[in-house]
Amino acid sequence: MLILTPVSVFAIIFSMSSRFGAKVISWGRAVPERVVTNDDLAQFLDTDDEWISKRTGISERRIADPEKGEGAIDLGAAAAQSALDQVEKYSGGSLAAEDIDLIICATATGDYLFPSTACMIQDKLGASNAVAFDMSAACTGFIFALNTAYNYIHSGQFKNIMVIGVDLMSKYIDWADRSTAVIFGDGAGAAIVSACDEAEDAFHPFYIKSRGDSDCSLYVKSVANQYPVAEADIKAKPEMVYMDGKAVYEFAVKAVPEALEQAIEASGYKPEEIDYFVPHQANIRIIQGAARRFKIPMEKFICNIDRYGNTSAASIPIAFDEAYELGQIKREPGQKLKLGLVGFGAGLTWGATVIEF
Ligand code: UT7
Repeated sequence: MLILTPVSVFAIIFSMSSRFGAKVISWGRAVPERVVTNDDLAQFLDTDDEWISKRTGISERRIADPEKGEGAIDLGAAAAQSALDQVEKYSGGSLAAEDIDLIICATATGDYLFPSTACMIQDKLGASNAVAFDMSAACTGFIFALNTAYNYIHSGQFKNIMVIGVDLMSKYIDWADRSTAVIFGDGAGAAIVSACDEAEDAFHPFYIKSRGDSDCSLYVKSVANQYPVAEADIKAKPEMVYMDGKAVYEFAVKAVPEALEQAIEASGYKPEEIDYFVPHQANIRIIQGAARRFKIPMEKFICNIDRYGNTSAASIPIAFDEAYELGQIKREPGQKLKLGLVGFGAGLTWGATVIEF
């Protein structure tokens, strides 16, 4: 029998009335210093600038040097610090590292198997009051982490959440494989999601999907996680990115419009009402295909793949933060931009949302 005490009645009423709104209050990014151009790669790979630019839209990418303080933890912490430093620019006011109560780090390329990259970033950032954990969803990681942050805030459990996407794919690149070596780059991006009045809630419903890909069209096999490790596996260095580019491309050209269509419909807007689209940067042709599908001019799609390549979980926040800084994304005082965010990648995973910012 259910016995209702005054305390449990209060708890029920409180949980029914205490729904919180959530909004992104800041963005940040950190990329390695070293620029590797297509011509640089052509010096040791059977490729050329024309092929890479035409087929992918990539001209150069950043490659990290962990020996120079550019590991996943370093870059993730730098992106998070940049998001803290830019609270005033983006939303007015300020936030200290101690005000962060949760850090979610989306990464597939952390420096350690454990502890989590998020815990190490917590320490570096001085976010002493935060809970911290990682999320593994490859290139869709930022969308999944943002969705998780939104739900934690909506439930009232946390108030200021640092969402980080960081990947150093270069650690797993086979530099003799031209089909993957030209695609990926390293970097980190971050967004801070904070609680607000429910009336100010800036998120529309997320559309997220997974389809376990037993055909393994995109993977890195973990030798460290296999026991016993075969001598042959160690010699063959199998911890490298394998990608069936065509299969992933075919998946992506369907997944991106599908996710955007569902997210836009759930937001109640029409595609032409979205001010900017910030898509995962995997191939310019995938982004162009989505623009054609929605009959939206490419100027509304934020693209920086030419300079960074595919930075996996980091690509969306890097693209937003840079475009805002460069004035490609314009926001008048008091204006609320409608942003369509979309990601996809290994898993397979894909997802999108519309946020107001
Ligand atoms: O974020 C994770 C999601 N990942 C993706 O979204 C990647 C999706 N896939 C793609 O973007 C494209 O499939 C690639 C850019 C990876 C490849 O482009 P493609 O137009 O699908 O090329 P392909 O794999 O069909 O290869 C065409 C030709 C092949 O030569 P042959 O067999 O026709 O003689 C390849 O060997 O291009 C060759 N090729 C290259 N040539 C010069 C493959 N890579 C290179 C290269 N330089 N780097």
